[in-house]
Amino acid sequence: MTYSKNYDVLIIGSGGAGLSLALKLADHAVQVAVLSKFALTAGSTFYAQGGISAVFDAGDSIESHIDDTLDAGAGLCNPDIVRLTVTHGKKSINWLREQGVAFTEEQSASGEIKLHLNREGGHSHRRIVHTADATGKAVSLSLIERAREHANIELFEHHNVVELITRPDDTGKRVVGAYVLDVKQQQVKTMTARVVALATGGASKVYLYSTNPQSATGDGIALAWRAGCKVSNMEFMQFHPTCLYHPHAQSFLISEAVRGEGGKLILPDGSAFMHKFDPRAELAPRDIVARAIDHEIKKRGIDCVYLDISYKPAEFVLEHFPTIYETCLKFDIDITKQPIPVVPAAHYTCGGVLTDSYARTNIHNLYAIGEVASTGLHGANRMASNSLLECLVFAERASEDILQKLDSVASVPEIPDWDESKVTDSDEEVVVSHNWHELRRFMWDYVGIVRSDKRLDRAMSRVELLQKEIAEYYGHFRVTSDLLELRNLVIVAELIIRCAKQRKESRGLHYTLDYPDTDDTQPPQNTVLTP
Ligand code: FAD
Ligand code: SIN
Repeated sequence: MTYSKNYDVLIIGSGGAGLSLALKLADHAVQVAVLSKFALTAGSTFYAQGGISAVFDAGDSIESHIDDTLDAGAGLCNPDIVRLTVTHGKKSINWLREQGVAFTEEQSASGEIKLHLNREGGHSHRRIVHTADATGKAVSLSLIERAREHANIELFEHHNVVELITRPDDTGKRVVGAYVLDVKQQQVKTMTARVVALATGGASKVYLYSTNPQSATGDGIALAWRAGCKVSNMEFMQFHPTCLYHPHAQSFLISEAVRGEGGKLILPDGSAFMHKFDPRAELAPRDIVARAIDHEIKKRGIDCVYLDISYKPAEFVLEHFPTIYETCLKFDIDITKQPIPVVPAAHYTCGGVLTDSYARTNIHNLYAIGEVASTGLHGANRMASNSLLECLVFAERASEDILQKLDSVASVPEIPDWDESKVTDSDEEVVVSHNWHELRRFMWDYVGIVRSDKRLDRAMSRVELLQKEIAEYYGHFRVTSDLLELRNLVIVAELIIRCAKQRKESRGLHYTLDYPDTDDTQPPQNTVLTP
């Protein structure tokens, strides 16, 4: 049985970016479908800890937030986009509060109730609005609740996009929908729409060790690339300095806010080391802290370093970091009494699908918002807690543009169903699981925190082999979620390596032994790849 349904707007992704856009459109009578390849809470948004950056403190200023963002971005941020994003901070937080998000508050000396603000690396002021240490969960659950009750929003869980559908038009190409695998029914559906928005999150699962949930396989970047979108700055994969190091803990982040509240990074013998790498020590931007930890681990042949907040009163730690406390305790680590073993892990995709200031890609009616996009905000290194802000601001920008033009967008032509006549069920699933592991292992070893030309070449030749094998497999067997993700991840790996090979300098998150210095002899350039 075939399935075909048409919407005004199809949003691929139910994280902070996708649901914000859905709500902003649906409130204006637009019929929206939102897809998530797993449950609605599957994206990184749900796991965000530290919070959302915005200028609320009287001693802080928009100019200071802009300067800090530009500084972290190491010369590659687009200053107009930075200003646009930062100036929308307060409005975005207030919108979230209207959706029911309860942020942590405090009482000032004069008795006034105000937002409590955290501090994180790269920020010269306290400006991180948060809900204890589980901000993403609060944001995610509120947006999901609002979306569930909205008459104009249809939510589809366990729906994994296979391919975007495009058609020629007078601008070159327009998007008209997507083929979508209904994972439970094992059926590929045709879902059409006059406008499509990618809100699929990042690609950090391309690395063996990552803070990200399973969903972060860069699908949106690969879908957009195959459809003909430009992709930018993929060499800037961010490694978070402090992921819990424990054989049974998978991907658990120890928030930068722990360092913001005084947490010290120490070696196994208890000595501090960050002051040797940057005068801001623990509060230097992430690229610097992650590289310093990587350096110490490799130099000393140790498994991890430690983050120590145990010298603070136990009540303080419990009040600020209840989730981190409870999770670590499950692994017999009492953070009020002992330091936390930590290692860097892949965390955030600074590059992605190239967009303009309204989140438009180079394909007509196709938008990209949130971590999947490369807007120009982050440059060569994202500053902590600017990501959720970007999700909110660009959801707003995209909604403005879509609302203004939707009536004039031509209706969608007839689209043929997905053709499965030439494929069968796979009898060699091991090919998929083996290649998944191999890809993530060599990306970690060769395209990680420290790179070299030789390592990048080695990784590229392996990517080419995997691509051939996966293309053959894809051509013969029915699609499964694992196969779709692997096919996307290997494209993302190729894009990261190609961007990294183009950059003949070290800058921000891209550090290579062959060009260890930043090239200051010419204006810094973003890397742009065209399909
Ligand atoms: P996500 O929230 O990742 O959502 C992606 C959605 O796309 C999911 O619904 C997924 O199912 C769906 N999807 C993906 N592929 C497909 C497909 N093929 N078909 C259908 N659906 C698909 N940033 C901050 O600013 N502050 C923080 O404190 C912070 N803490 C973080 C802590 C952790 C542990 C992590 C991992 C990240 C953190 N970040 C933080 C980064 C931030 O959370 C993310 O960048 C942001 O939430 C991304 O939101 P998004 O809506 O773009 O994507
Ligand atoms: C954290 O809480 O350390 C994550 C913040 C971020 O990634 O922006």
